[in-house]
Amino acid sequence: MTEGKKVRESISEYSEIALPNDANGLGNVLGGKVMHLVDLAGAMAAIRHARTTVVTASVDSMHFIHPVRIGQLIVLRSSVNRVFRTSMEVGVQVETENLMTGEKLHTCSAYLTFVSLDKAGKPTPVGPVIPETEQEKRRYREAGERREYRLALRHRLKT
Ligand SMILES: CC(C)(COP(=O)(O)OP(=O)(O)OC[C@H]1O[C@@H](n2cnc3c(N)ncnc32)[C@H](O)[C@@H]1OP(=O)(O)O)[C@@H](O)C(=O)NCCC(=O)NCCS
Repeated sequence: MTEGKKVRESISEYSEIALPNDANGLGNVLGGKVMHLVDLAGAMAAIRHARTTVVTASVDSMHFIHPVRIGQLIVLRSSVNRVFRTSMEVGVQVETENLMTGEKLHTCSAYLTFVSLDKAGKPTPVGPVIPETEQEKRRYREAGERREYRLALRHRLKT
């Protein structure tokens, strides 16, 4: 198990230009493409924290506030909000930048749960994450509430 680490040590950023291959007929990027990038950006933060292989256990609901247009830069920022035992909640924020004007828009945010795996592919404990700023402390607290809801949903799906 890793030692405790600061939230800021997991902060990750991933950017990609939206290309025509990713779009629907109207020139807007498909939601599934953004979801794929969210998963990648989230995994980066989780791996940076745990320094192990991770799998995505769940993704909370996602709401797209603004469309992403072809040619825009998609910027994803992620960090670990809280570690439970073998699982971690990671928050990902997605922003688009119009490279011609510099205008930036918040496209969506998502919370993902990643599970750390050992070399045999079994869940393995992760060291705690240490929130420092007020925002990090708020996210830490709220992650606990979201976990309760998530695990209740998991239980319902299983039974
Ligand atoms: C996620 C997975 C590793 C959990 O394995 P498991 O045998 O159920 O193990 P456990 O019950 O011990 O759960 C391990 C941890 O995952 C958490 N977890 C499991 N399912 C979860 C879910 N749906 N949402 C949130 N957390 C979840 C548990 O709460 C536990 O966390 P904790 O140790 O911090 O308390 C397993 O279900 C799996 O491999 N799923 C497929 C993952 C995958 O392939 N993702 C990509 C899909 S294409």
